[in-house]
Amino acid sequence: MKAIIYTKFGGPQELRLAEVEKPSPQNNEVLIKNHAVSINDWDFGLLYGDFINRIMNGPRKPRRQILGSDIAGVIEAVGKNVTKFKPGDEVYGDLSGRWGGFAEYTCAPERSLEFKPAGMSFEQAASIPQAAMLAVQGLIDKGNIKSGQKILINGAGGGVGTFGVQIAKQYDVQVTGVDSTVKLDMMRSVGFDHVIDYTKEDFTNNGKRYDLILDAKTNRPMQHYARALNDNGAYVTVGGSMSRLLQALILSPWISMRSKKKFRIVNLKPNKDLAYMNQLFESGKIKPVIDGYYKLDDFAEAFSLYSKAEHKGKIVLNI
Ligand SMILES: NC(=O)c1ccc[n+]([C@@H]2O[C@H](COP(=O)([O-])OP(=O)(O)OC[C@H]3O[C@@H](n4cnc5c(N)ncnc54)[C@H](OP(=O)(O)O)[C@@H]3O)[C@@H](O)[C@H]2O)c1
Repeated sequence: MKAIIYTKFGGPQELRLAEVEKPSPQNNEVLIKNHAVSINDWDFGLLYGDFINRIMNGPRKPRRQILGSDIAGVIEAVGKNVTKFKPGDEVYGDLSGRWGGFAEYTCAPERSLEFKPAGMSFEQAASIPQAAMLAVQGLIDKGNIKSGQKILINGAGGGVGTFGVQIAKQYDVQVTGVDSTVKLDMMRSVGFDHVIDYTKEDFTNNGKRYDLILDAKTNRPMQHYARALNDNGAYVTVGGSMSRLLQALILSPWISMRSKKKFRIVNLKPNKDLAYMNQLFESGKIKPVIDGYYKLDDFAEAFSLYSKAEHKGKIVLNI
């Protein structure tokens, strides 16, 4: 089968299209014919082989050579202990930890998958898992979002932000998004009430305050976020700069002790809320924002777009 593989850490230039052996499922696994896969920030961490990702997929060279976690496809075969799915079922999910999505076929345990609603395209399905789970778990589980609040999403034009605003709008809230100039029109069209261009304005220094900040970038000192929060406000980060995340871990208890402001970090629970996303999608409340589609053969262009952060919403590859 065709797959995009890498055999050395180092960045997108290490990726190449190759012929590899088609996998076969273990007893508790299904074999999926992939129809679409989306690119995530985590794929880049694994490509470059930073410290944490070498612990997971290293240390010297990548153990798993096919990246790609968010897939959508059709089940072709099932292992003998599989009970939830049968051949022909249309499924999607986040395979992070084992990856293998940038390929024509993947094997996955059944717990990593959810049924794809009939009205959802494979491309829409592949855009959802990681970004939407981070948004749901950040806004609802950690952020405890409530109607009447003022919300801000930093890094709002990517996957987490474009799902985040639509999930937040299930509540009666005002949502502000922060990103670069080229993404602001798209952000307004997807539901942001206000947008801030970070190249022109610093939202932590303009006197405005929010009840909940969801951060996909984490590129500022924690004290700056604290001053953009209302007295009982909460700051929730899903990821970003490693040094800032460490700072969040160390300083947050101290800031929380001196004020009522809360600082929290999302530890992704893959696929936990896919059934909720199916409900939102089927009732017309969520529309994924997709940049692309790209063909598997055009992977270099797609990865280049992501690495320049020029994408809007999610980049999806057709297989
Ligand atoms: N917590 C966990 O367990 C877990 C698991 C997986 C992934 N993650 C993390 O989750 C995040 C994924 O977010 P995502 O999918 O939304 O990423 P994304 O699609 O890359 O979106 C991030 C957005 O931030 C914008 N941005 C860049 N610099 C900015 C700045 N200075 N201020 C505001 N916005 C800025 C980017 O565009 P421009 O550069 O054009 O502005 C882009 O639109 C990553 O941080 C990843 O590491 C966490």
